[in-house]
Amino acid sequence: MEKRQELYAGKAKSVYTTDDPDLLVLHFRDDTSAFDGERMESLARKGMVNNCFNAFIMEKLAAAGIPTHFERRLSDVESLVKKLDMIPVECVVRNIAAGSLVKRLGVTEGEELTPPTFELFLKNDALHDPMINESLAESFGWATPEQLAEMKALTFKVNEVLKQLFAEGGLLLVDYKLEFGLFKGEIVLGDEFSPDGCRLWDAKTRDKMDKDRFRQGLGGVIEAYEEVGRRIGVTFA
Ligand code: ADP
Ligand code: TMP
Ligand code: ASP
Repeated sequence: MEKRQELYAGKAKSVYTTDDPDLLVLHFRDDTSAFDGERMESLARKGMVNNCFNAFIMEKLAAAGIPTHFERRLSDVESLVKKLDMIPVECVVRNIAAGSLVKRLGVTEGEELTPPTFELFLKNDALHDPMINESLAESFGWATPEQLAEMKALTFKVNEVLKQLFAEGGLLLVDYKLEFGLFKGEIVLGDEFSPDGCRLWDAKTRDKMDKDRFRQGLGGVIEAYEEVGRRIGVTFA
């Protein structure tokens, strides 16, 4: 497999074509962004930490029967993935109220959500990823009702696998965002799962151990990611 030209440089990862038209290389950079790119900083080791974390989680999800784009880790900071036709809709499941939900509905952070909620957001930084619904996604052609149903079912299936995995490490999976795409017509989980795109709290102290440390200027961002990884069994390069 040969890495070829850069296809896209996102806020945290760069995407490269390869000699195989079905495969891409994801390069996890140290760049960290918050508030849809309004705040950017480089955090040492972050690319390596998220690449290893994501590889570990994607392998767990694949073992649980979830179709993912992940093929293999190529280096400390790069992974080989299937090239997906990305669906511009972000799927969020919340087990506990936090973040934008608290602001939007005026509920108390930390309130348990029974059952967990499912939300859709449009992937659009300029508009700050506005909340959408299935009807809008269908009307604008972002995804079909069948694709949305599949994305929702898979996002909840991920919850069952990961809630348990993090609980065994003494962590609460508060919420998370997933991105899906199409590979030969099938819905496949893409992008990454790392503490950049989810909220994880220590189950006893409720200390934040995810990107909220960066958003809220709490410090110790990468140290917290590494501690989460250590607790669930991730091996860092
Ligand atoms: P952003 O685009 O939000 O700034 P990143 O910096 O993480 O995010 O860039 C990675 C980009 O690659 C994202 O736009 C994501 O949707 C896209 N992507 C992730 N996985 C795949 C894949 N398997 N195939 C094609 N594109 C992908
Ligand atoms: P929110 O509370 O800001 O809506 O985010 C819910 C969860 O989804 C949180 O874990 C962060 C994640 N998320 C992203 O990583 N990127 C996004 O663009 C969005 C909308 C959410
Ligand atoms: N994922 C978005 C960004 O990277 C939003 C956020 O994390 O605050 O800017």
